[in-house]
Amino acid sequence: MSSHAKPSAKPALPRPEALRKSLLGWYARAQRDLPWRRNPRLYPVLLSEFMLQQTRVDQALPYYARFLQRFPTLKDLAAADLGAVMKLWEGLGYYRRAGFLHETAKRLAPVQEPGVAELAECPGIGPYTLAAIGSIVWGARLPVVDGNVNRVLARLLALEDFPQSKAGKAAILARLQEWIPEAAPGDWNQGLMELGATVCTPHAPKCGACPWQAFCSAHALGRVEDFPKVEPKAARPHKHAAAAVIRRKDGRILVAQRPAQGLLANLWEFPGGLLLKEETRAAGCARAVREQLGVEIRVDESLATVEHGFSHFTLTLHFFSARHLKGAPEALRCQAWNWLKPSELRRLPFPRAHWPVLEKLAPEAK
Ligand code: ADE
Ligand code: SF4
Repeated sequence: MSSHAKPSAKPALPRPEALRKSLLGWYARAQRDLPWRRNPRLYPVLLSEFMLQQTRVDQALPYYARFLQRFPTLKDLAAADLGAVMKLWEGLGYYRRAGFLHETAKRLAPVQEPGVAELAECPGIGPYTLAAIGSIVWGARLPVVDGNVNRVLARLLALEDFPQSKAGKAAILARLQEWIPEAAPGDWNQGLMELGATVCTPHAPKCGACPWQAFCSAHALGRVEDFPKVEPKAARPHKHAAAAVIRRKDGRILVAQRPAQGLLANLWEFPGGLLLKEETRAAGCARAVREQLGVEIRVDESLATVEHGFSHFTLTLHFFSARHLKGAPEALRCQAWNWLKPSELRRLPFPRAHWPVLEKLAPEAK
């Protein structure tokens, strides 16, 4: 035997029973105390899983609490109007989720005993959400695959494929379908997500605290941070946009509601739009407002510049104060518009990038 610490070979695939026992035992001991886990019924789990689709647990928690307080049951949520749901979702991002959640509540609330089949028909329910809710609420044997689960499996198997590739997906899904237990599929799924979130983290995983250390190929090879293999990503493009705080003589401010489809769907905003390369910010601001609402404005001083990251691009948003010159607003490139007193602005949901300007116009009572 060499005295040098030589990485050992990949261990053979562990037996499902050993994997189940160690993961479920660890999850029973180490799970975070999260409110929807205390009462794993349809409504709390539905709410949490919609929020957790794109959002970390710590960011989702305050929103989860506010939703349950405002809409204590699925029926209350189903009976709410979309505007109120959007307002409560304000700041959580990926706003399509709020519309889908509301639509799903409306579909499921009248059903006597909804199950996986009914849930699968609802909008915004993909394989991930169906598996998460189905396993946690009804004990369906459906494996959850999310970013955390992919990372854990890619390391456990020392998977050379990208987890998102066809071969990678197939390898991970095949193992999960084989391993997920009959008895506690919800705990298994949540245990896997929990392991990825708290132990098998992207950097410096805490292998010493991991229930699967003895089974883990990446650990045995001494290469935990080599997995998962990451596909080189195209850089996100950077865009510039301008928006105007347009005042009328009586001090009211013009706001517009974004279209029901696409980025930031249904949110309200200070009018404006993307800038073209060849125009100045002020001229582009006036042009975008004309195209959106058919009004002429005089652009005055700069109010703020905000940087914001979206999933597919990053944005610099230039805010100006402006005067309404002429023209009654028309909903040309928006759903609706309104002239509001500054004190009324906070009733509507705005994108996060607009919050610094809102704060200047209508400081939030703290
Ligand atoms: N991410 C999404 N759903 C989760 C859950 N139920 N537990 C832990 N992390 C999650
Ligand atoms: Fe992740 Fe380390 Fe556990 Fe392997 S041993 S699954 S790398 S935490």
